[in-house]
Amino acid sequence: MSDLNSDLNSNPNLQRDAENPDASTKLPAKSLLDSAISLVGDDLDAVNNTIQWRLQSDIALINTLGAYIVKSGGKRLRPLILLLCARCCGYPGKDHVLLAAVIEFIHTATLLHDDVVDASATRRGQPTVNDVWGNEASVLVGDFLYSRAFEMMVETRNMAVMRILANTTNAIAEGEVLQLLNAHSPDTSEQQYMDTIHRKTAKLFESAAWLGGIIAGERTEICNAMASYGMHLGTAFQLVDDILDYSADSADLGKDIGDDLAEGKPTLPLIYALEHGNTQQKAIIAQSIENGKREKIAEILDIVQSTGALDYARAQANDQVELAVAALAPLNDNEYKDALAQLAEFSVIRGY
Ligand code: IPE
Ligand code: IPE
Ligand code: MG
Ligand code: MG
Repeated sequence: MSDLNSDLNSNPNLQRDAENPDASTKLPAKSLLDSAISLVGDDLDAVNNTIQWRLQSDIALINTLGAYIVKSGGKRLRPLILLLCARCCGYPGKDHVLLAAVIEFIHTATLLHDDVVDASATRRGQPTVNDVWGNEASVLVGDFLYSRAFEMMVETRNMAVMRILANTTNAIAEGEVLQLLNAHSPDTSEQQYMDTIHRKTAKLFESAAWLGGIIAGERTEICNAMASYGMHLGTAFQLVDDILDYSADSADLGKDIGDDLAEGKPTLPLIYALEHGNTQQKAIIAQSIENGKREKIAEILDIVQSTGALDYARAQANDQVELAVAALAPLNDNEYKDALAQLAEFSVIRGY
């Protein structure tokens, strides 16, 4: 195991999610992730090595910041999905490792940009790059990672791969801009919220899964099934991320909770509470979205719990996981397919 994988395994969270009543019958989140990792451990080590050497630049600040964010861990969920999908199809080549690193670079670039936009101070259990080195450095190193990812993807000489990745990065940018437009707007609908999370988060999961089938030369039905799995899993993942922003233990999550409220983000827990709360509760939520302040967090937590908003969002996430698992039906039955189903489960019972 590389250093990066041991960093990953040292994540303190071994707990089931207390919000999820079904969790008592399920393996703890970390075991689900670990069992998927153990299936493709060698591939994942190769991905981490690729990430490390492809980060190199003769500009020292890029190396410093790149190593800082990458070494802090991260679950490597998107690379894992790509590796499992490729292996599930019996892919014999090497591009899965390169592309898994590409996907993680794109993901990391979005985090560097996102933490600036969201003014977040903690990521992966340590101060964010913007907190330590400032917004400019975080944005510019994010750009470096995006463009390095493009340099790498070209090496596959596979036009379908390049098209998928180009569309995906475009959609992520659209999602982040859409989110900016909806910020501080209590009128944001559930539909607009879903549109935002499909683009900003689910698209990259979709691509990770899809690319596994594409590089293996799978037929369209299988590639589409994988893409659909990734899209549903990614949607569940962001729904849960938005629940965790109100309910997680910050130490487990590695991020400060309440960041969404501080930025006036109308995420599903608030959208639901706005529709189902009493007049006073609605006023508190609407004001907090407009003002984007953390100060009413205790009252808001109470409201999202008592109106059933967190339960509703979790039910939506569970539905997405069911769809993700159902999408896997046309794939060959093997241990990789089982691991993909376990990862879908992980995405909703996780507390980190
Ligand atoms: C964080 O993603 C950004 C979201 C889409 C919610 P992850 O939770 O996968 O981040 P790391 O890579 O594990 O830190
Ligand atoms: C996901 O949204 C961000 C990206 C897709 C880059 P969030 O803003 O909720 O992610 P976190 O909570 O900062 O990780
Ligand atoms: Mg954020
Ligand atoms: Mg979040």
